Amino acid sequence: MIDISRVTKRYGASVAVKEVSLTVAAGQTMVLIGPSGSGKTTLLKMINRMVDFDEGSIRVNGLDIAGADPVALRRGIGYVIQQIGLLPHFSVSDNISFVLRLLGQPKPLRDERAEALARLVGLPPEVLVKRPFQLSGGQQQRVGVARALAADPAIILMDEPFGAVDPITRRKLQDMILELQERMRKTIVFVTHDMQEALTLGHRVAVLDRGELVWQDTAAATAESEQPFVRELIGATGRCAR
Ligand SMILES: Nc1ncnc2c1ncn2[C@@H]1O[C@H](COP(=O)(O)OP(=O)(O)O)[C@@H](O)[C@H]1O
Ligand SMILES: [Mg+2]
Repeated sequence: MIDISRVTKRYGASVAVKEVSLTVAAGQTMVLIGPSGSGKTTLLKMINRMVDFDEGSIRVNGLDIAGADPVALRRGIGYVIQQIGLLPHFSVSDNISFVLRLLGQPKPLRDERAEALARLVGLPPEVLVKRPFQLSGGQQQRVGVARALAADPAIILMDEPFGAVDPITRRKLQDMILELQERMRKTIVFVTHDMQEALTLGHRVAVLDRGELVWQDTAAATAESEQPFVRELIGATGRCAR
């Protein structure tokens, strides 16, 4: 469970995130949506302490993260981004199991785990020995998700992970996330600026506008919202979840 309480982040005179309070229940997917510059990435990165905040508090499974060791904290939190950051000289298998290597696991165990994770995210086993550049964009994103799952974290943060792929691939990747959630029930915070994606993936949807939380509710209630800013976002990308 993630409990964000009145959190504010400033960059000089400008406020990136303003007094945001938000609770993400265990096993649920919370989607953060808002236009570019609304504070989505900043809010996400505060959860694993890649960005420190100025005011408020964040608790992860009851632990106040301000006093936590960032490295230990991040071990329990998977992180997936659009730019993936796969290591070009490593095989797909070694990329997926990279964190296990840091944790000192022996190679045979890592390979076994990478194979299971590849299957889980819908990658054919023959890609395991390839290099990342030999994969399609969609496959690379699947590797990014598999890598985030390697140490079996309870929480996964995803920052516009599917922003750069074509619409058909994007739907497939969204289906993969839905299937994973059905099976694994992770606590996921997923950032997007696409309302279709938000309504498809989120149990709940939180809307940011210029650093402020202006709406949060279930996906169903969000789809029916009369709030003008929410309606605007729905109008921009379609109201239908599927
Ligand atoms: N490292 C930084 N230094 C200064 N300003 C920043 C920094 N990171 C983000 N900002 C500012 O904070 C605001 C929110 O940014 P961000 O969280 O990246 O928004 P989003 O992810 O919704 O596009 C923006 O105005 C952005 O310019
Ligand atoms: Mg961002």
